Amino acid sequence: MTGVIYQIYPRSFQDTTDSGIGDLPGITRRLDYLADTLGIDAIWISPFYPSPMADFGYDVSDYTDVHPLFGSLADFDELVAEAHARELRVIIDWVPNHSSDQHPWFQAARSSRDDPKRDWYLWHDPAPDGSPPNNWLAVFGGSAWEWDEATGQYYLHSFLKEQPDLNWRNPQLRTAMFDTIRFWLDRGADGFRVDVAHFVMKDPEFRDNPTAPGSDLMPRYGPAYETQDHVHDKAHPDSHDVYREMRAILNSYDGDRFAVGEISLDDLDRWAAYYGDELDQLHMPFNFTLLTTPWEAAALRRSVEAVEAVVPDGGWPNFVLGNHDTPRPVRRLGQAHARIGAMLLLTLRGTPTLYYGDELGMDDVDVSPGEMQDPWEIRVPGKGRDGCRSPMLWNPEPGRGFTGPGVQPWLPFLENLDVNVATQLDEPMSMLNLYRALLEIRRASRPLRLGSYRALAHVPGQVYGYAREDQDETVAILLNFGDTPCEVSLAGHEHDVWLSTSMDRSGLETGPLTLRPNEGLIVRDPPVIQASGTSG
Ligand code: GLC
Repeated sequence: MTGVIYQIYPRSFQDTTDSGIGDLPGITRRLDYLADTLGIDAIWISPFYPSPMADFGYDVSDYTDVHPLFGSLADFDELVAEAHARELRVIIDWVPNHSSDQHPWFQAARSSRDDPKRDWYLWHDPAPDGSPPNNWLAVFGGSAWEWDEATGQYYLHSFLKEQPDLNWRNPQLRTAMFDTIRFWLDRGADGFRVDVAHFVMKDPEFRDNPTAPGSDLMPRYGPAYETQDHVHDKAHPDSHDVYREMRAILNSYDGDRFAVGEISLDDLDRWAAYYGDELDQLHMPFNFTLLTTPWEAAALRRSVEAVEAVVPDGGWPNFVLGNHDTPRPVRRLGQAHARIGAMLLLTLRGTPTLYYGDELGMDDVDVSPGEMQDPWEIRVPGKGRDGCRSPMLWNPEPGRGFTGPGVQPWLPFLENLDVNVATQLDEPMSMLNLYRALLEIRRASRPLRLGSYRALAHVPGQVYGYAREDQDETVAILLNFGDTPCEVSLAGHEHDVWLSTSMDRSGLETGPLTLRPNEGLIVRDPPVIQASGTSG
């Protein structure tokens, strides 16, 4: 998969019913924007299944239908047909670790200890003093165990208590879940983004996690969760078998069906193991390192190269700059560095995933306590994800092109009226036009799509420079993370500047290249890549 993935959070992309919540026909309506204006290759749509929305769709109550808020199966079919007509692939979210507590499977399981579906979830007797069976914690706060009064046992929920974990060691559950992916593959889905993919298998003995702050932790989780070393409650080696089986199912379909897994593990060897030694598991585990690496040249280079070093031969790297769980790039990095981030994301070796609205430089929206939606914020203050989920901004009019004028959107709009597609299309140097130029250059350049990666050695410390090389073609990328200008000397006297993050500079330049503060450049076909330079 060498194309570019664009993530759509369906509640926030385009509302066609004036409900204040986006829907599938809305996505269909915007396919020309995605295919032509932007030029991405695949969309990943976050969950649109029936759901009580305790976690905004990541609590699924039916894996083979569409929530009426978002439309119908017929709307999905139309979306796929229209996307395919534009050569866009459609990746949907699949949530195998947990269902909703309102799923009929869980309703049956909790009806009695003897129910045939009891074992489809993870039940456990209390500890002798009546407390939870072990020390496992829910990502969203508190114990991962919820007491079920009626049947006198605890059930496991790695996230909310409304999201009971499924028991992947039960063969019937496994078959039933794999049937749900066949359902969507049969309808033409091109693949899946697998939610918290590594959580599916836990220690079968349910041993306590050791206390070991700092290892194997997702830094974005809350402070209590991070006091444990999560060796037993997720990423058990048996998880790999699930993805081997999933891959075999994908391979049995025509047309390169695809799976990318949400896998956050600080131990990159354990992370890369999800490609499979024989490249027989996930096509790629999402690589979130750009979200957490300190934003400076040396650290980013180290981080990119650490990932390059563990991706198995024949495997393909990937990079993520934003998603529905993380503050947006503009919030984390500021506008100038979000532009450098865009250049980095779209020029590194690997598949980029672009989060809707980041191409406009959308900032997080500040949500007042009364407007708060995310259950994580309510349980662990400071962890909320509402800010990055506000509606897409299509124009400056009331309703912002997202919904009808006067309709209250489910989360507030960003107030800045300049941040929207229509306005930015008219501004030659806008963030949107930077993304469009980067996407166009990527499409035009074999080295950028397929070439190897090599860091440039002799650049000033504030610059991250690398070459992408393919057969006889080379492209150099020079990113100045510093607030001061600096010079970089590439071999040769003339340099063909293809694009600057400022968008005011292209064409032949002679002598050493001067990078302005916080500027990134793409240089086409430098003769021999060796760099040296001075800063200040
Ligand atoms: C993943 C999703 C997140 C969700 C959680 C539980 O991390 O990206 O949005 O809340 O899984 O399903």
